[in-house]
Amino acid sequence: MPVVSFSVSEKLVRRFNEALSESGCASRSEAFREAMRNYISEYEWTKGVSERAIAVITVLYDKKTRKDLLSNLQHEYDDVIPTTLHLHLDETNCLEVFVTKGDGKRILELIRKIKSIKGVKQVKFIATSSEL
Ligand code: NI
Repeated sequence: MPVVSFSVSEKLVRRFNEALSESGCASRSEAFREAMRNYISEYEWTKGVSERAIAVITVLYDKKTRKDLLSNLQHEYDDVIPTTLHLHLDETNCLEVFVTKGDGKRILELIRKIKSIKGVKQVKFIATSSEL
């Protein structure tokens, strides 16, 4: 089994260790393996995406993020974003929820563009299809 090493901020390591101990997960390596599996399954969904996709995208971002960039994307992709929701979480963070529906390729493009905005800390999505 290969050993993987990478750099990460102290704060992220501390939070990760806290989450590990609170969740009762015995193995840090197992937690990383699970995170990698989740990343892969999310990526694989993106390869088989339909033209009638439905996805709920949550975007956690720093308040200092340029909101005009997020807002421009909302206008550019309004054909696939019927609903958005904004929550002020605390002094530093906001959460934006995009409910999306339509061409999956456009939804993926939107997700990629959101991820590329500086100050965006986490982008997660739950995807489904009306064809199921
Ligand atoms: Ni806010």
